[in-house]
Amino acid sequence: MLFELWKHPRPDAPVLRRDGQVVVSSHRLARQVLADRERFSAANALDAVTPIPVDALRELTRHRFRLPATLANNDTESHERIRAAFGAVFAPANVEALRPWLTGLTRRTAAQVAWRLRTGETVDVDAAVSSEIPLAALARLLGLEVEATLEVKHFSRAALELFWGDPTVERQRELAGVVGPFHALLRGWTAGSTGATRELLDEYGEDAATAALFFLLVAGQETTSQFLTLLLHRLIEEPGLLESAPAAIVEEGLRLLPPITSWRRVAKRDTELGGLEVRAGESVLVWLGAAGTDEDVAECPMRMVPGQRGSRRHLAFGAGAHRCLGSQLSRMEAEVVVAEFAPLLPRLRVAAAPVSEPNLSFRMPSPLVVRLAV
Ligand code: HEM
Repeated sequence: MLFELWKHPRPDAPVLRRDGQVVVSSHRLARQVLADRERFSAANALDAVTPIPVDALRELTRHRFRLPATLANNDTESHERIRAAFGAVFAPANVEALRPWLTGLTRRTAAQVAWRLRTGETVDVDAAVSSEIPLAALARLLGLEVEATLEVKHFSRAALELFWGDPTVERQRELAGVVGPFHALLRGWTAGSTGATRELLDEYGEDAATAALFFLLVAGQETTSQFLTLLLHRLIEEPGLLESAPAAIVEEGLRLLPPITSWRRVAKRDTELGGLEVRAGESVLVWLGAAGTDEDVAECPMRMVPGQRGSRRHLAFGAGAHRCLGSQLSRMEAEVVVAEFAPLLPRLRVAAAPVSEPNLSFRMPSPLVVRLAV
């Protein structure tokens, strides 16, 4: 169940124990766990869910792969400083300044997709749109020269599968063979970096700067990519939703189709959660998707009604000291994509719907193949 949470209805109990996790599904308790640093730590956020076997670990070590605490998994003193450095990069003003360029890029992408469809081709929207736009925006903000989208996507999806998926031992070896070398490449990028990554390099050293870049390159584009695919799929199936404003559509999308379905914390001491005793060291899985459909959150919690009361009260971006630094960026990207693709979407039909691989936290939907309606 835990590897395919999105398929399951929210349980009656607000908190329960399942497959080695304390699973929290109510909005109130989810928020409490995420925001309470006294009782719960984010230190386990990037721990591999399926233990990595020795030979795959060896492969990672061979490429000097390390993930010291920097951002999402950092509950030490350095978190505030590192978060502030990247917070400045993703500040609302910088995100807004990107909007005209992003609108141009998205408009050109929509025109290309429309042209390909008119020639009778089917188009994988996941590859042509969702994979391209968030990565281009992230690279621009971070000042990275990302030439090969496919290579970054291959690596970031491998990382999500290795750390949050349920791969076989053979597959883990394969994934380590992708993640290790890419991490080594990132070390090179780190060495030549400027801005926030450079500040981190000078202050905390190469391992920390590389680890931060590694996390940002995955979290900063794969999440939004996955969200775009889920949202565009929904809008093609339900074009009536397009009568609402893009920002309102995006918000309801985040509430009902969060690309990160769950996120972990670890109990720092013995404690109690909604009547359940939790022991120090236990992993607490905060079911973000279920929290968004809690009865107390929105007026019609299970229905997609853009602009409804409570629409923004979801926990898709987490909460507390680790709340997502990219929320404005991903909202802006999704708004622009919805606005620019709105004229085309009602004319599309789904030829292949996205399939989600088993994963504890990420939806991983791919592909989304469409054709023009006849
Ligand atoms: C729809 C897209 C996205 C979703 C759903 C999402 C969701 C999340 C979640 C659930 C967390 C953990 C929050 C917690 O522990 O309470 C997180 C953390 C984070 N996200 Fe996002 N994210 C998205 C896009 C982005 C983007 C575009 C960026 C960067 C450009 C980004 C950067 C980060 C960072 C740096 C953290 C760690 C913050 C910290 O530990 O202080 N995310 N995100």
